[in-house]
Amino acid sequence: MCGIVGYVGTKKAKPILINGLYKLEYRGYDSAGVAVLNGNTIDCVKSKGRVADLDKMDGIEKLEGTIGIAHTRWATHGKPSIVNAHPHMDNSKHIAVVHNGIIENFLELREFLGEKGYKFLSETDTEVIPNLIDYYYSQEKEHTPTSLLESVRKACDMLKGSYAIEVLCDEFKNMFIVSKKNSPLIIGKGRNENFVGSDIPAILSYTQDFYLINDGEYAVITKEKVDFYDKDLNSITKETKNFLMNALSIEKNGYEDFMLKEIFEQPKAISETVTAHLPVGQKCVLNELDFTKSYLQGINKIYLVACGTAMHAGLASKYTIESLSRIPVEVEAASEFRYSDPIINDKTLCVFITQSGETADTIAAAKLARERGAKTIAVSNVLESSITRETDYVLYTHAGPEIAVASTKAYTSQVALFAVFAIYLAEVLEINLDKVEILKNELRSIPEKIEQVLSYADEIKKISKKFYKEHDVYFIGRGIDYATSMEASLKLKEISYIHSDAYPAGELKHGAIALIEDGKLVVSVITNPELAPKTISNIEETITRGAKTFVVTTLPNLSSKFDYVIQVPEVSILTSGLLSVIPLQLFAYYISKEKGLDVDKPRNLAKSVTVE
Ligand code: M6R
Repeated sequence: MCGIVGYVGTKKAKPILINGLYKLEYRGYDSAGVAVLNGNTIDCVKSKGRVADLDKMDGIEKLEGTIGIAHTRWATHGKPSIVNAHPHMDNSKHIAVVHNGIIENFLELREFLGEKGYKFLSETDTEVIPNLIDYYYSQEKEHTPTSLLESVRKACDMLKGSYAIEVLCDEFKNMFIVSKKNSPLIIGKGRNENFVGSDIPAILSYTQDFYLINDGEYAVITKEKVDFYDKDLNSITKETKNFLMNALSIEKNGYEDFMLKEIFEQPKAISETVTAHLPVGQKCVLNELDFTKSYLQGINKIYLVACGTAMHAGLASKYTIESLSRIPVEVEAASEFRYSDPIINDKTLCVFITQSGETADTIAAAKLARERGAKTIAVSNVLESSITRETDYVLYTHAGPEIAVASTKAYTSQVALFAVFAIYLAEVLEINLDKVEILKNELRSIPEKIEQVLSYADEIKKISKKFYKEHDVYFIGRGIDYATSMEASLKLKEISYIHSDAYPAGELKHGAIALIEDGKLVVSVITNPELAPKTISNIEETITRGAKTFVVTTLPNLSSKFDYVIQVPEVSILTSGLLSVIPLQLFAYYISKEKGLDVDKPRNLAKSVTVE
């Protein structure tokens, strides 16, 4: 979704702002813009399309000042266009604003401002913000940083919805103001310079010291310092947090695309996520949680709530958690959960899974569960992300920054972390300890086994070359293999734009088999030996109707039966999903490459979906 960058210091602002926008490209966007204070004037340059297009726009080379704000826009209100791109200015062109989020009452505010004589040039909700600030600021007797801040506060008090904003005013050559509500924003501290980003990668190459700003707070940023205020503009103090993140972790490091790099990083991501929790010869260490046996025995249900791939991680983990803890697990899309009047109480444990920690629906669902008295856990990959402030407990995956829009290493890290969680539950409950031991041993050796699967990349690339022209692909599996099939299908459609669906293998003949005709590709996942004969029969039913078949399996001796088979190492079904998904991530990746598409930045998609 939209990205924000801001800079004030002694260097030219434009290169820093543009560099920050490049680093935020992974979030997904369709236009970009930058505003720099040049002398006494705010100069604004915007473009449709990529940051590279913005960087070539007429006038961009004239942005010389040392303070500025910048934005990548993912269109919500109004199509992608130069007029709708941010920054937006007030009618008098003294105040520029960039905004992430959605102003739900913007029509009301347009009417309010319209009555005062304000005009609107764009179709956006954002344009009301600089004009509201101007409306209040023009009524101030004196124009000072304090009166500008007061005007920003009055404007923000009128906004309904979500926002992270930067406000630049041409009267202040060394100051801009930021605020946020339900939309991410961080402030980076430098020496004689300060930075703003909608997330860490935007400014990581300049600083590792960050201030976190909470909803409803304001920051007045100059090159020398950052002053913080609460919602009533009382001064507050904040300490910086040091994020020891390596700037190289957000570079491609020789890989052609971030997605490929992240697929290959999975052994490390899983190892860093699980190893510290599984000391050899001891119980699982999950100090983040403090559940007692009697609390767990009283739980009526565990809800796993998330969106997209994170929800698939929940589906793939349901089996492991239920099998070890014998507590019923229900997996629900956050966008459904929040409006479904869910039956939850203090005996329900609700876990919210989100790589970014910023997904609007997942955050709203977490707030609802907490209000209703459930115990809540966030599973996030991003330290201090918004969701971590909305739940009772936080568990982190340690996959490292995931830049490609298509999630890969975050998914497998989440599934691995849930295996640890299942072990923890079983050990506290003192049940299924034999299964616990098997799972612990398997988890320790999974990174090595994934390395082995990754070594099949060339073979998978060859298979992809056969199928990149397909229009429809069907994925089938049973149990955990169905969860893997859903994730594989999502991966394929989001980066290759090939229509695909996933079905429980046994469901196919209840309808979807009508779509199978000569030459259609059916991809199957088979990792459960007990269910294998059933799934094989289902595949045979599609072969009879002309389907071509690609099977990913842990079982030996299947290669003679189907057109293409990738055999991954044999493990129990509790960890098989961590291996079987890898060839299918690579399959989607190579198909997208073969089609010449932008793998890391697929059309219409955003990395973190911060609006509902
Ligand atoms: O950051 P989150 O895990 O909350 O994101 C959830 C989904 O938006 C995300 O998994 C999406 O489905 C990915 N594009 C999948 O590759």
